[in-house]
Amino acid sequence: MDSSDAPLVQIINGPNLNLLGVREPEIYGTETLGDIETACAERAEQLGLDIDFRQSNLEGDIVDWIQEARLSHDGIILNAAAYTHTSVAILDALKVAELPVIELHMSNPHRREAFRHTSYVSLAADGMICGLGSHGYLLALDAIARLIELRRQGSES
Ligand code: DQA
Repeated sequence: MDSSDAPLVQIINGPNLNLLGVREPEIYGTETLGDIETACAERAEQLGLDIDFRQSNLEGDIVDWIQEARLSHDGIILNAAAYTHTSVAILDALKVAELPVIELHMSNPHRREAFRHTSYVSLAADGMICGLGSHGYLLALDAIARLIELRRQGSES
């Protein structure tokens, strides 16, 4: 596929994910976010996707980026980190974006504290991948590629 035709996927990482590698390695592993970005870029190339990989500790940045994706991207992979469990603003941004959305978590929130069992993001996500560590990012790319392809086929017919 010509790179200009390649679907563009936004991969958004929320608060404290910039500290992967040093942050609770028994939960999140020892890879850095940079390592994960490199692995995502490799998988994206295999899948014929372009990616836009970002991280912020600020809820408003994430809302702004989702609003941007609505106009210029084909899908969103979102690890909203702690904002998953608190942010109505991120949920509302996802709802208006009307894009395929994969919710992602490295850990399995359902095996952790009760406050992690609620996800606002899930209310707007097509699917959710959790508990598989950094490999989840690659699986999320596989999933979003398929959702984007199905949507493109739907809009052609
Ligand atoms: C997380 C799970 C969240 O509960 C937590 O607040 C995070 C990371 C994960 O990737 O497992 O920061 O989203």
